[in-house]
Amino acid sequence: MSINIMCHNLEETEQLAHHFANIIKDTGAFICLFGEVGAGKTAFTKFVCKYLNVKEKVTSPSFVILNEYKTGLLPIYHFDLYRLENEGINTIINELEEYSEGKILTLVEWAEFSQNAVPFDKIDLNIVYLDENTREFIFTANGTKSENIIKRLKDENISF
Ligand SMILES: Nc1ncnc2c1ncn2[C@@H]1O[C@H](COP(=O)(O)OP(=O)(O)OP(=O)(O)O)[C@@H](O)[C@H]1O
Ligand SMILES: [Mg+2]
Repeated sequence: MSINIMCHNLEETEQLAHHFANIIKDTGAFICLFGEVGAGKTAFTKFVCKYLNVKEKVTSPSFVILNEYKTGLLPIYHFDLYRLENEGINTIINELEEYSEGKILTLVEWAEFSQNAVPFDKIDLNIVYLDENTREFIFTANGTKSENIIKRLKDENISF
């Protein structure tokens, strides 16, 4: 099950993230973020954190691999696997499943290395760069929990 939503500027991406935050705030979610450098993986994450009332400054975890935010409506784990070597990826893959359970939000940038290796319930979010300000957001559910989230996103009839 999937849904495509076009955002024509950063403000629309913020509105989409606001809807998404409202939907997942009671359940949590595990999200793999795909898209080229500058697509908007971190931008989307920052807005979701904003609407989950995160008080800390949300920054890209490119260099630290993982940022944790504990001041929001639920615990948030933001990974960026871009700089990990094979050995580190294998270690993280084994640990990621723990981050898919319970009422927490996990967002993983550059998870392509581990796409086949994470069989648990998750949402794949592909962000397609179309031009300087336009992005297509494609959410695909894998698993019952994620399907319910995508269903709720569909019910909101978001279109810009
Ligand atoms: N509609 C839009 N949605 C998201 N970002 C947008 C949009 N329009 C412009 N941008 C800009 O695109 C950039 C996205 O950068 P961001 O750091 O989020 O990318 P990224 O996918 O995390 O890249 P990286 O792979 O380097 O981590 C930001 O500068 C943001 O302001
Ligand atoms: Mg990023």
